[in-house]
Amino acid sequence: MNTIINAGRHDIVVTNDFGSIINDMLHHKDAGNRSIFVIADEHTQLHCLPLLSGFLPATFHLIVIKPGEINKNLQTCQAVWEQLLEKGADRNALVINLGGGMVTDLGGFVAATYKRGIHFVNIPTSLLGMVDASCGGKTGVDLNHYKNMIGLFSFPEKVIVDPVFLKTLPDNEWKNGVAEIIKHGLIADTQILEVLKNEIKNNRSDNLTISLKEIIVDMIEKAIQVKAAIVEKDPFEKNERMFLNLGHTVGHALETLSLSQDEIALSHGEAIATGMICELHLSMKLSGFPHDDLSTISSIISDFFPLRKIRDAAFQELIHIIKADKKSSDGAINCVLLRKVGEPVIFKNISADLLLESFHFYNSVQK
Ligand code: GLY
Repeated sequence: MNTIINAGRHDIVVTNDFGSIINDMLHHKDAGNRSIFVIADEHTQLHCLPLLSGFLPATFHLIVIKPGEINKNLQTCQAVWEQLLEKGADRNALVINLGGGMVTDLGGFVAATYKRGIHFVNIPTSLLGMVDASCGGKTGVDLNHYKNMIGLFSFPEKVIVDPVFLKTLPDNEWKNGVAEIIKHGLIADTQILEVLKNEIKNNRSDNLTISLKEIIVDMIEKAIQVKAAIVEKDPFEKNERMFLNLGHTVGHALETLSLSQDEIALSHGEAIATGMICELHLSMKLSGFPHDDLSTISSIISDFFPLRKIRDAAFQELIHIIKADKKSSDGAINCVLLRKVGEPVIFKNISADLLLESFHFYNSVQK
């Protein structure tokens, strides 16, 4: 069964039969005779391309990039642009981005800028990509570890979400996606949070059980609907799209610092989970978020993600990075907070002292 979700400037098809969607797309009467370029990373080349390639014309071109956030940069873009040129991509060419958020962010950016923009389709293969990164037209790359500093809004022709691609996804990647599903629950859908609360409580283990994975897969559509409704109203993040940044003011700063310092960098999910706990603490201080909800939700998140404490020595550097983030303006720290679950609010000019307090709170709830 296919569900088509309207995100304003593009549709997202949630399906158990991605092949038929690709067939319809490639053989549509307006599709013309365009050349097809698949951008994959080394993992999705191995695990996901074999599922896709049979539905593509034999003449499709493959461009493989190195995986991981560390390679989400302009050097990788340059290599992809060069291959597009060498392989003869013209302005009618179609790029299919097959991968997680790194591939769809970078591949979307490459397509949006090559010859002033060619069409692209996203086929997210990670949970995070399905519920967040592949939808809504944010494309871009990192600059010297600063996340997503270079980029533009450019909307995919279509996003095709099929959970079949999750079969080979490692557990830590599932957790990255769950962090974003929790975020969508916190900002807009109390039901998502209720289900997760109960299921996570019953599955306190580092290895995700098959039944928990099935429940998570069932929530993909709901989580996408939360994002699509927001993006439809505010595609260019002037107002309510900012709500999707809950947990990301602190989370992106932690990721930036970790990418530059840690041997094993924090995953996006860990960073956002940490960010959400800090920002819920700020919400309790500044926007009336109930104390009881802060305790319950912090402990659910901490149970699900084995989180690292924030080193005291990193506190000031984090504040510095947060001030440089594109969500801040004129050095003032802005952040999405919650009045209660389902009621986000943008708060401006948050003091560094309160942020420091939130880091201490976060550390106090980690084992
Ligand atoms: N990941 C947040 C957004 O797309 O706006």
